[in-house]
Amino acid sequence: MISGAPASGKGTQCELITKKYDLVHIAAGDLLRAEIDAGTENGRLAKEYMEKGQLVPNEIVVMMVKDRLSQPDSKEKGWLLDGYPRSESQATALKKFGFDPDIFILLEVPEEILVERVVGRRLDPVTGKIYHLTYSPPETEEIAGRLTHRFDDTEEKVKLRLKTHNSNVKDVVSIYEDLSVKVDGSLSKQEVFAEIDSILSSLFEKKGMTSHSV
Ligand code: AP5
Repeated sequence: MISGAPASGKGTQCELITKKYDLVHIAAGDLLRAEIDAGTENGRLAKEYMEKGQLVPNEIVVMMVKDRLSQPDSKEKGWLLDGYPRSESQATALKKFGFDPDIFILLEVPEEILVERVVGRRLDPVTGKIYHLTYSPPETEEIAGRLTHRFDDTEEKVKLRLKTHNSNVKDVVSIYEDLSVKVDGSLSKQEVFAEIDSILSSLFEKKGMTSHSV
């Protein structure tokens, strides 16, 4: 599991982790945005909460994540859960369904850095890759021309998202205390990954699991 404030770098690190360890990346935010794009009733409801930076109700999120975790690829390869659970009740539901993590990584980044990261973030709708206009600029003009901006990536909305995060994070961290590792997410993307990679390599070794290094 990977957790952290909005724009702490969860998605960015998940791209690197899944590439090396061949896990299935399951991001609650991405599942919700897919519902919005598909124009479903759940998506319409979820957007109302996401616009306000609030947690989407469990009735929508819990089963959505459970269903994705239950897919054959997640069972076969193992999963990397990003942005879930965000509350005690979500963690309890996950446990009840029999999904227990091996590790809980918490990315720590000071708030002043988070706002700058949110405002400069752009997404490539074709590859799903995450960019930042300053820290990870697009490689070509063609990619630059098609980048999109998330509807909740404004300074005003990220402050609301941060408030929600700050009021829930302690509950979630305390549930996974024994499995928790804090990582300094304010360093460069590669430095953060080096730290996570070393943690995961030791874990895989200890558990006798193999990674599919590329
Ligand atoms: P979600 O999509 O999960 O958003 P979030 O938690 O706010 O996190 P972000 O996706 O904004 O950031 P990130 O940490 O992945 O950072 P990234 O790698 O992109 O959730 C959105 C909404 O959905 C929530 O507000 C809520 O309403 C709802 N929701 C989601 N999960 C839910 C749940 N479980 N229950 C209920 N509701 C839920 O990086 C950000 C930027 O910084 C990028 O531009 C990147 O290039 C740059 N960057 C990353 N790392 C570095 C670095 N080390 N140095 C410099 N720049 C960096």
